[in-house]
Amino acid sequence: MTAGTALLVGGSSEIGMAVLTELLGPPPRRVVLAGRPSGELWWNAEKLRDLGYTVRTAGYDANLRADEVDGMLAHASAEQPICLAVLAVGAMTSDSFADGIIVNGLSVSLLLRALVQRRPEQVVLLSSAAAVRPRQSIAAYSLGKQLADSTAVLLARQAADTGVRVLVVRPGFVATRMTADLPKPPLATTATRVGKRVAAAVRAQRSIVWVPRRMALTVRVLNLLPRRLLPSAWR
Ligand SMILES: NC(=O)c1ccc[n+]([C@@H]2O[C@H](COP(=O)([O-])OP(=O)(O)OC[C@H]3O[C@@H](n4cnc5c(N)ncnc54)[C@H](OP(=O)(O)O)[C@@H]3O)[C@@H](O)[C@H]2O)c1
Repeated sequence: MTAGTALLVGGSSEIGMAVLTELLGPPPRRVVLAGRPSGELWWNAEKLRDLGYTVRTAGYDANLRADEVDGMLAHASAEQPICLAVLAVGAMTSDSFADGIIVNGLSVSLLLRALVQRRPEQVVLLSSAAAVRPRQSIAAYSLGKQLADSTAVLLARQAADTGVRVLVVRPGFVATRMTADLPKPPLATTATRVGKRVAAAVRAQRSIVWVPRRMALTVRVLNLLPRRLLPSAWR
């Protein structure tokens, strides 16, 4: 990947940081962490500075209007065009059903479209296995992820001719602050493993990657089974 700005939207995310650090390459490099102001965002910026990167932060909220999203992207690419973008925004719980779909789906889809128009070399979307196997217990999250995932799959096909690669990442359960209160299911993985698998998928120029690999087959089988036979948490 050529030098240019590396952007992480969801700059406080543990998985986002694991993916970004695997893809960044050695410093010096310009990095922009976009997100809502928080201790985690600040801490991630400090960690990258300590490693020798030039780091800026930018404001991003899922409720931003389209022109505000463009403003954030313009700010991020002011010194050097965006070469790599990792989208790690997501929330399993939200204030309302509509909010869940906006945060996980609509806002991410609009951001993806705006990003691809700027022609970065690589976009990485943190989707979820829930995009292919929606669950009742996280309905708004699943539906939002479906929208973002499908947008990325379509954009990957459209943008291929322009040299923009889009990778859709579909992890199952990852042990992070998002899942800290949930029991660990089989096939649970870590942010570090997601980062390593994404890096391998980017090198192989793939457009979809499941983490762990077995999650793809597991979801396919689960989708064939009648839901009433499954434990309620899996329906
Ligand atoms: N952990 C899992 O098991 C798992 C599995 C599959 C997919 N994923 C996906 O992986 C990505 C990263 O998740 P993670 O596990 O690293 O969790 P995380 O640390 O909670 O990261 C989620 C990110 O989304 C941001 N965010 C949430 N609501 C937002 C809003 N309304 N506006 C702007 N930003 C918002 C958070 O920012 P704040 O700090 O400001 O809240 C944070 O940066 C997410 O897209 C998630 O859906 C996670």
